[in-house]
Amino acid sequence: MRLNPKIRLIPFTFFLLPLLVLGSILMSCGQNSAEEANIIRIGEFGSLTGPTATFGQSTAKGVDMALEKINQSGGVLGKQLKLFREDDQGKPEESITAVTKLINKDRVVAVLGQVASSNTIAAAPVAQQNRIPLVTPASTNPKVTEIGDYIFRICFIDPFQGAVMAKFAYNSLGLRKIAILRDVKSDYSMGLANFFTQNFEALGGTIVANESYSAGDKDFGAQLTTIRAVKPEGVFVPGYYTEVGLIARQANTLGLNAVLLGGDGWDSAKLWEIGGTALNGSYYSNHYSAEDPNPIIQAFVEEFRAKYKEEPDAMSALGYDAAMILADAIGRAGNTGADNIKAALATTREYQGITGNISLDEHRNALKSAVVLEFNDGVARYKETVNP
Ligand code: PHE
Repeated sequence: MRLNPKIRLIPFTFFLLPLLVLGSILMSCGQNSAEEANIIRIGEFGSLTGPTATFGQSTAKGVDMALEKINQSGGVLGKQLKLFREDDQGKPEESITAVTKLINKDRVVAVLGQVASSNTIAAAPVAQQNRIPLVTPASTNPKVTEIGDYIFRICFIDPFQGAVMAKFAYNSLGLRKIAILRDVKSDYSMGLANFFTQNFEALGGTIVANESYSAGDKDFGAQLTTIRAVKPEGVFVPGYYTEVGLIARQANTLGLNAVLLGGDGWDSAKLWEIGGTALNGSYYSNHYSAEDPNPIIQAFVEEFRAKYKEEPDAMSALGYDAAMILADAIGRAGNTGADNIKAALATTREYQGITGNISLDEHRNALKSAVVLEFNDGVARYKETVNP
């Protein structure tokens, strides 16, 4: 007698199939928890696309290089560091989404990012509320770390950067009349313009024009015409490379004869592509110079070149240092408890980084020197180092 095929399926459907399903669920759980036991989840958010794309891309390269090195030499606390990276396209509202996802979905123990101060200011409250440490490699506006005790930075702050460029303009270049052109959409630009002004006036200089634009603008003709009329010796443009490149070009076309000056936001290979020779003879402050003969820096530059076939800009060096400092703190914390990582980060002292000797103060800011670079034909030449 032949069994009805439907009946033959009964033992499979009611007994074997559930067993198989259950078995495979258990197995994948086993694999997951085995993997989980061997990894430490780290988050990173940045502008991998958009008008500040080189900031995010350069940071990512530095972070990847650091994590590869750490993992190859055995990881931290015997575990491998696993990175979760989010692109916020440079938009502050996307930064909030990115950090929320990293914390809630990817369950990272700490977050690295962002570069642009306005993005870090937007997203840091999410980390603070969730009590997850956030380390920004490069956001220099003072407000960033004022958000709370879980927010750290490994770079100098803009009151210092503004003073560096004001002194350089007044003492080294002998300039007395300077115009300012700032980006009203950027906390970084607004702050740095103010700190420059305070310091330049305190030295005895005069700000002869105060003009502004909004990130994304393409035409700066009106502002530059106003500035040209007051005949400044220099124009301080504390913006990001996309607008700065266009401003340099248009200033040149208008016959504005003044030295252009800026800050770290200029630091991108794209600046030269956009601004070209109109930028020749301009100066900006930065976190490090790839030309620095210091053997620590030269070893990093060589390794980076071999890996990526390009020069590391300041963002790559800062991304590398931030990842290394975070790993160092997790190691010193002894476990991945957020409060222990936070406490270890707070006691970072005399860390020998690529961007200098890094010690965090009681406000979770780094006290470091800055460099001034002179820009000519696409090359940013090292001019001087300024200590805090
Ligand atoms: N300091 C800038 C900011 O706070 C960001 C930046 C750092 C840009 C380093 C380039 C290089 O917005």
